[in-house]
Parts: sequence; structure tokens; C-alpha cells
Amino acid sequence: MALGFLRRIFRLLVVLIVFQGVCVVFYYICNTHSTRDGVKDVFQQPHCTELRQKFTIIKPAKSIQLQNFTQELSDFMSCPYKLNSTERELNRMRLQFCCNATGSLFLTKQNTAINQTIPYETSTVKTYKMNAGIHNMLPEDFPWSGRRLGRCAVVGSGGILKNSSCGREIDSADYVIRFNLASINDSDVGLKTDLITINPSQIRFKNLDKNPEPLVERVSVYGNASLIMPAFAYTFCTGQSLKTLRVLHSVRPQQPVVFFSSEYLRTLNRFWKGRGLKEVRLSTGFMLISTALELCDNVHVYGFWPFGTDLQNNPVPYHYYDQLRPHPYMHSMPEEFVRLLQLHSKGALTLHLQPCSSDAR
Ligand SMILES: *[C@@H]1O[C@H](CO)[C@@H](O)[C@H](O)[C@H]1NC(C)=O
Ligand SMILES: *[C@@H]1O[C@H](CO)[C@@H](O)[C@H](O)[C@H]1NC(C)=O
Ligand SMILES: *[C@@H]1O[C@H](CO)[C@@H](O)[C@H](O)[C@H]1NC(C)=O
Ligand SMILES: *[C@@H]1O[C@H](CO)[C@@H](O)[C@H](O)[C@H]1NC(C)=O
Ligand SMILES: *[C@@H]1O[C@H](CO)[C@@H](O)[C@H](O)[C@H]1NC(C)=O
Ligand SMILES: *[C@@H]1O[C@H](CO)[C@@H](O)[C@H](O)[C@H]1NC(C)=O
Ligand SMILES: *[C@@H]1O[C@H](CO)[C@@H](O)[C@H](O)[C@H]1NC(C)=O
Repeated sequence: MALGFLRRIFRLLVVLIVFQGVCVVFYYICNTHSTRDGVKDVFQQPHCTELRQKFTIIKPAKSIQLQNFTQELSDFMSCPYKLNSTERELNRMRLQFCCNATGSLFLTKQNTAINQTIPYETSTVKTYKMNAGIHNMLPEDFPWSGRRLGRCAVVGSGGILKNSSCGREIDSADYVIRFNLASINDSDVGLKTDLITINPSQIRFKNLDKNPEPLVERVSVYGNASLIMPAFAYTFCTGQSLKTLRVLHSVRPQQPVVFFSSEYLRTLNRFWKGRGLKEVRLSTGFMLISTALELCDNVHVYGFWPFGTDLQNNPVPYHYYDQLRPHPYMHSMPEEFVRLLQLHSKGALTLHLQPCSSDAR
């Protein structure tokens, strides 16, 4: 009788285990096979893992032949994104330790003293002595002191953004970084701007002191975004940068003009040189992506594409707003691009190379 009882218990257990197994399988099916995308993911997964590995260790080269990996890159960009928070924190710590954008991205009253000697980024002998008048116009402190910037969008000027419909997605970021007073556009590149660079060569307004209107008109498009200038990169940058600060400080006090810390840019250059990026000077785009990796919770990169055709082999202009070409001797854009691709593959940032879907957040 005891034996019969045990047998019944055993049978009950078997039924329970089988039932649970069925539940697990059912749950799995429901969660992966119920949509067509789910089915696609399951079949894509092995290929995606392979591609992720390949692009994580892709060799940085002075010139890369895009046509050799367009198809693979296109496939990889359709793979589900894999975030790696360990990698992300590691990058943040490395960058903060070496360069500290948090406390030294640009000059403030806190990190710069009156009469302090400011070195030039690209010179070992030239310096600038900070006078009381300019010091008085520096911002008190960083707007982010003590907090992260959340989801950041770094928007390059690549022609790949034309017809991308990425405007809404970019505008939904918490913090948006742009470059060289690039035009903004609600459909393709978005309108929100928190930080935008000005190249001193763009300040070509006559009689700026007496007639600031054209400059004011040019910058007020970006609302209250901070305008950041490399005042102490080269000596020829300083005059126009100081003039811009003086003029805008009095007529547009809500829109701060700030100067990159040459010390920050120097250490950042050294950081990437030490990691094999051999170029005369990093592009401003690459610099501010590095800044974002330190300051933001996550970084979305748009419009960084230094090639003449897109992933579907359609021709794309170099910039989305003009036909200019870069100085080939200065930056090595394809080499920087490979770095970005590595960071994307490792889950440290998200590179956007294809048009945005219309149902973007
Ligand atoms: C690209 O492909 C061609 C032909 O397959 C090959 O000769 C060349 O070395 C490749 N280039 C790179 C950079 O891989
Ligand atoms: C995440 O990044 C860390 C640090 O680079 C690495 O050790 C780890 O293997 C990565 N995890 C995955 C799932 O790739
Ligand atoms: C970065 O700079 C801030 C302000 O100067 C300072 O408080 C902080 O300790 C620095 N962080 C590192 C890692 O050096
Ligand atoms: C800066 O230097 C000037 C001239 O050398 C001196 O008169 C002034 O007191 C100094 N200011 C500060 C805050 O050190
Ligand atoms: C963008 O779309 C317009 C109109 O549909 C088309 O004429 C133009 O060639 C497109 N530009 C790019 C770079 O795709
Ligand atoms: C904004 O985007 C639309 C659609 O792509 C385009 O027709 C227009 O020329 C763009 N404007 C600017 C200023 O780039
Ligand atoms: C810009 O700053 C001004 C003055 O501080 C303020 O009134 C305005 O609301 C700000 N605009 C935006 C878009 O934040």
C-alpha cells in the first residue's frame, strides 16, 4: 500500500515537471516567436554575434575601403543593439581620470584664476594671461555639476542625415550637442540644441562691436544653447573668440559663450594617441563624443559618416547643409569612424547610420 502511494506521488511529480516544462516552452515561444520581428531575431542572432565580434576588433586604418564591408555593416546595423554597462562605466572612468570633462571641459570662474597663464593647446611656448575683464565674463560653473546629462545626442554634419527623418528622435534626447553653427531642421536633424561649437573662422562679421545684429541673428536660432569656441587652440583663434564673448555677453546674456579648456583638449588628444589614433588633432566631433561618454548616461551618435555613399550605395553629400570637404591633412575621419564603430560594437555608445523609423520616441 505504501508502495502504491509512493508510485502515485511519483506520477504526480512527473506530471508537474512535464507541465512546468510545457509552460516554460510556451512562455519562450510567446516571447520570441509571437511577432515576425521576434522570428527574424532568432534567425539573425548567430550572424549578429559574428558581426559584433568582427566590428569590435576591426583594424583602424588610414583609409578603409567601404565597399569591402558595406553589406556586413548594413546587416550589423539591423541587429538588435547590445548595451554593455560595464564597458560604459569603464570608459567613463578612464576618461574622467585622464581628462575630466566634468571639471574642466571649458574655462569657468571656478577652475580658472585671474592672471592665470593659459597654455595654447597646440603650442608649448605660447600662452595667454587671463585678465580680470575676461574672467568676469566666464560662466560661474558647469551646468551639470554633480549630475549626469541623461540621454545625449551628438549630431555631426554628415550628409547621411539628409532625408533621415531623425529630427524627432534627436529632439527627444535630454541633451543635444551640435557643431559649427550647423543648420537645424525639425524633420532631419532636429531643433533642440544645448551645446554648439563655433569655429572662430565663422565669425566674419564686420564691425562686430558697433553692429552685433547679424551675429545675434545667427546664434539666436539655437535658443539658449551654450556656444563653445576653441579660443586657445591656436593663437589665431583668440581674437575672434574674445570678441564674440564680449559682444554676446552684453546683448545675449542668456546664451553663454564658453571657451574649451586647452588643458582638457590636450589630455584628450594624448588619451586617444595612446590608444593608437595617430592624427594631427582630433576632430571636434570626436572630442565632444568623448566628452559625452564621460558626462552622459548614454550617447547616441548621428551624422558621423565620412564616406561618399550610404549603406545602400546611394551617393551622399559630405555635409547635410553644404558641399564643403574636410582638410585631409588634419583629421583622419575614417580612422575616427572605425573607433566609433568599435565603441558601438562593444555596447558603449549607439551609432545611427540609417534613417530613423517614423514611430521614434
Ligand atoms: C578590399 O577588397 C579587395 C578585393 O577583395 C582587397 O584586395 C583589398 O585588400 C580589401 N581592402 C581592405 C582594406 O580590406
Ligand atoms: C562587457 O564589457 C566588459 C568590459 O570590457 C567585458 O569584460 C565583458 O565581456 C562585456 N560583456 C559582454 C556581454 O560582452
Ligand atoms: C574633476 O574636476 C573636479 C573639479 O575641478 C574635481 O572636483 C574632481 O575631483 C576632478 N575629478 C578627477 C577624477 O580628477
Ligand atoms: C593680476 O596682475 C596685476 C598686474 O600684475 C595685478 O595688479 C593684480 O593685482 C593681479 N590680480 C590678481 C587677482 O592676482
Ligand atoms: C532627399 O529627398 C529628396 C526628395 O525626395 C530627393 O530629391 C533627394 O535626392 C534626397 N536626397 C538624398 C541625399 O537622399
Ligand atoms: C529640412 O528637411 C527637409 C526635408 O528633408 C528639406 O526639404 C529641407 O531642405 C531641409 N532644410 C534645411 C534647412 O536643411
Ligand atoms: C532663455 O532664457 C531666457 C532668459 O533667461 C528665458 O526667459 C527663456 O525662457 C529661455 N528660453 C528657453 C527656450 O529656455
